[in-house]
This record gives sequence, structure tokens and C-alpha cells, in this order.
Amino acid sequence: MPVIVKVLGFSLGLTLVFTLIANLLPQVEGEAPVEKIIDPSAFTEESFIALGEELFQGKGTCTLCHNNMGRAPDILALNMVETSTERMADSRYQGSAKDVEAYLRESMLQPSIYVVQGFGKKGSNDTESPMPTVDKAPIQLSELEINAVIAFMQAKDGNLVTVALPTEEATPTTSQSEITIQINEPAMAKTAEAALVQFGCTVCHSVLETESPVGPDLRTVASRLSVEEIRQSIVDPNAVIAEGFPPIMPTDFAEKMKVKELDMIVQFLVDSGK
Ligand code: HEC
Ligand code: HEC
Repeated sequence: MPVIVKVLGFSLGLTLVFTLIANLLPQVEGEAPVEKIIDPSAFTEESFIALGEELFQGKGTCTLCHNNMGRAPDILALNMVETSTERMADSRYQGSAKDVEAYLRESMLQPSIYVVQGFGKKGSNDTESPMPTVDKAPIQLSELEINAVIAFMQAKDGNLVTVALPTEEATPTTSQSEITIQINEPAMAKTAEAALVQFGCTVCHSVLETESPVGPDLRTVASRLSVEEIRQSIVDPNAVIAEGFPPIMPTDFAEKMKVKELDMIVQFLVDSGK
């Protein structure tokens, strides 16, 4: 390094040093998120579908439940155009959708109108869905984002996309005229609250401001479990399954979380349950 500085001359050397420091810093703090700002009128069908896929895996938290672990229909494996058509033909179907696009939208906005057999809330005899309404907290997708996710679900098996691409006229409000999405790994959460949202805990548990019946209430978990048991429930959820709940908590938090994030979450749950 000092040799390079000499060779390149002082000011160029300094620039190099600053560049190096700038490149090193994010790794210490956790990878800095890259944000992409999109002008809705500039969408092509391809980029709209790609946005839908990113939302499905990321902000939408869909893959927390829709995966191959049996907690919800495996949307990535199913042909959702054929599946939707079968659902609408089911004698139990009570919704008002007449086409695939409408069925997918209804499933996201009013999950309990029709509950896929065997996937209802425990004890509800498949009349209540455990799926959160996606335009409400904690998921809170905008209309444009919901359309992108529908386009993705239609397109992923080569089916026709019927969702209209957004146009400037269709999205005149400033809140929707720019969308920001995070492309790479989000930065390390700075607080326990941020970590609980980022890792999707709020999707399945009542904690912070949100209510969810999928898993046990975390506001009172410290009265049931010791610090060590809480930590184990997060990194190895299937070691002990809480009574009355299905074993559907994701098992990969130990790989995804930084130690500090896990510590903050455990401490938060211990403190708030006292
Ligand atoms: C907390 C778990 C959970 C999350 C998060 C979730 N879902 Fe679901 N979803 C379910 C369950 C369980 C069902 C089956 C019961 C029902 O019909 O509502 C379902 C049903 C569906 C269906 C109907 C599937 C079928 O086979 O007919 C669609 C479409 C769907 N979800 C889309 C989504 C999308 C898109 C997201 C993300 C924006 C999402 N879900 C997030 C649990 C979840
Ligand atoms: C897809 C839904 C889902 C997500 C996401 C999820 N959990 Fe869970 N969690 C559950 C279910 C269901 C149970 C009960 C069954 C079990 O013990 O595995 C549970 C159990 C727990 C327990 C034990 C509670 C008790 O009373 O025994 C803790 C603690 C916990 N989760 C914390 C978390 C934290 C922290 C996160 C986020 C990092 C999280 N969970 C994400 C569904 C989820």
C-alpha cells in the first residue's frame, strides 16, 4: 500500500485511500442497501414482472409462507393461472372473481373470502385465512405493487399477463409516481423494532403495533419462556413447537441474521414481556 501511494503521487494516493475506506465501511456496518427509483411510465412488461418478482420475495414477504414447507400453497411451484381457474370452479368458492387476475387480486385483498382447503386458521374449519391482507400493515403493498405481483404470478409459467402496465395517467399521485425498491441485502437493522419488521416476525406474530394470529403472541413471550428458550425458538424453531400452533416458522433465521440483530430481538422480547 505505501509503495502504491508513492508511485501514484500524493493526491491520487489519497483518493485511492478514501475509495478503499468507503468500500470497507459498509462491510463493517452491514451491506448498504442499493435503492432503485423507477418512473412508472417507463415500465416495460418485462421490468414490471421483474418488479413483481422482487416484491414477492422481498417487501411482500410472500415466500415466508408460500414455499415448499406446506404452510401455504406453493405459488412458485404451482401454475397460478390453472390453479386460479380450479379454485373459482370449486363449489366452496364464494368470491366474485370471474377471471384469473380478479381471483389473484381477491386472494391478496380479501384472503378469507375463499380459503384453500386445509390451509385455514386452526379451528376455523377453513373459513378464515391466516394470510395477512397485503395492502394493510405490516405488508402494505400499493395498488401498483399489487398489480406487479399479479403480473409476476401470471407470467412465471409463461401465461398471458392481463394486468395493464402502469401509465402516468393511472398513477398521478406523487406517492405512487416513484417507487423505491431495495435490490441487495438490506443494511443491518439498527433497532430491535426494525429487525422484527425486516425479518417478517410481525407478519406471523402479534408484536409492536401489529396483530397476527399465525404464531404465539410475542408481547407476552417472556412470561412463558426463559431468555435461552426465546433465543432457541428463533434460531431453531422446530426444537420445541409451541402447543396449538403449526410448525411453520422459518428455520433459516440463524443464517440470515447478524448476531447483533438476534441479540437485540431477544433483549427486546425479554424487556417488553416483563
Ligand atoms: C403469513 C403467511 C402468508 C403470507 C405472508 C402470504 N400468504 Fe398468501 N396465503 C397464505 C395461506 C395460508 C393461503 C391459503 C389459504 C387461503 O386460501 O387464504 C394463502 C393463499 C394465497 C393465494 C391463493 C392461492 C391458491 O392456491 O388459491 C394467493 C394468490 C396468495 N396467497 C398470494 C400471496 C401473495 C402474493 C403474498 C405476498 C404479497 C402472500 N400471499 C403472503 C399465507 C400467506
Ligand atoms: C411464517 C410465520 C412466522 C414467522 C415469519 C416467524 N414466526 Fe415465530 N413462530 C411461528 C409459529 C407458527 C410459532 C409456533 C410454533 C413453533 O413453536 O414453532 C412460532 C414461535 C415463535 C416463538 C416461540 C413462542 C412461544 O410462545 O413458544 C418465538 C420466540 C418466535 N416465534 C419468534 C419469532 C421471531 C423473533 C421472528 C422473526 C425473526 C419470527 N418468530 C418469525 C411463526 C412465525
